[in-house]
Amino acid sequence: MSEEKIIRLDMGKLQGDTGDTRPALCLGIESSCDETSAAIVDSNRNILSHIIYSQIPEHQKYGGVVPELAARAHILAIDEVVRQTLDKAGKTIDDIDIVAATAGPGLIGGVLVGWMAATGIAQATGTPLVAVNHLEGHALVPRLCATAADGTSGNAHVDFPYLLMLASGGHCQILLVRGVGQYELIGQTLDDSAGEAFDKVAKMLGLGYPGGPIVDSRAQSGNPNAFKFPRPLCDKPGCDFSFSGIKTAARIFLERATQPLSDEYINDFCASFQASVVDCIVNRLEHAMCDARVRNASPKTLVVAGGVAKNSAIRGAMEKLAQTHGMVFAAPPMSLCTDNGAMIAWAGIENWRVGRVVTEPIAPRPRWPLTEL
Ligand code: KG4
Ligand code: ZN
Repeated sequence: MSEEKIIRLDMGKLQGDTGDTRPALCLGIESSCDETSAAIVDSNRNILSHIIYSQIPEHQKYGGVVPELAARAHILAIDEVVRQTLDKAGKTIDDIDIVAATAGPGLIGGVLVGWMAATGIAQATGTPLVAVNHLEGHALVPRLCATAADGTSGNAHVDFPYLLMLASGGHCQILLVRGVGQYELIGQTLDDSAGEAFDKVAKMLGLGYPGGPIVDSRAQSGNPNAFKFPRPLCDKPGCDFSFSGIKTAARIFLERATQPLSDEYINDFCASFQASVVDCIVNRLEHAMCDARVRNASPKTLVVAGGVAKNSAIRGAMEKLAQTHGMVFAAPPMSLCTDNGAMIAWAGIENWRVGRVVTEPIAPRPRWPLTEL
């Protein structure tokens, strides 16, 4: 299909409403890392179906995601994942009002697979197409569905503006979320992301991939004061993070240890490492709350999102911090923290509502900061 044809089809449906009273249905596709996922979400915040095909078993033996293998696995899975998503919701592609897919940032081979699938469906059906920024998917999903730290009140959702800790395998940022497409970067990591730090420390301990959930569960039986990990930048003003010093400390501790490591040693190590990450997050968020006030915003909700938002200690500490500062804490339910199609479908709906649909061919982007939206 020619480029003009793509533009014409998408322009034809720009107006933004389904034309009747039923909610709009969005098919969302995520393929930026190691999950091939699709979901159908409606504009009344219902998830009609959601399929997540995790490639973790395929990457585990390499200790991390291998981009070429991921892209190939996405190609093999995408048709089946989309078909099952439609079947499970009892819908066909003709019932879909909006198609949305991750167009970056991420591993470009995988992003291309999901983006081309979405473009194909949108072109074949004449449906509006939304190019979703993966980080925006994480950032907006608490507006689809949010829970408290202990997982209760799953039907709640967050209103703008909110202060967001976005912590995933690839990113670690504090953002002031004022509206769809309105993200102010308050702080970010100067080196590793929080998820990367969890994954690398787990790898050093020989615990497997992905490391975050394993370290989290080991930490629950460990002593957080057993090892003195540093708290980088916590004595400095500002809201930026640095995790490389924590990683280096981990390596030094392990060089001194006698092998093999006992279970008790590993549990204490994980608890102490995790406590340092939690302290850094709390310290930086305290600064960010002051920063938000300087920006003339008074967000009432403190939100955590991204894969690391699954961490029990981080959720607990952030809930306490919110209470101390008279804010409400919210997080997506566990199943919507790590990469998933529902967050992309919801971001598709939010963008479509404000007219942010694709009107000309776009190139998916491996790097795409939220502040460039
Ligand atoms: O958001 P996500 O699925 O992928 C990216 O967009 O990067 O995040 C994956 C990251 C991994 O680094 C994983 O170890 C981390 O989230 N993670 C956790 C937990 N569950 C997943 N980190 C700490 N504690 C957890 N319970
Ligand atoms: Zn992600």
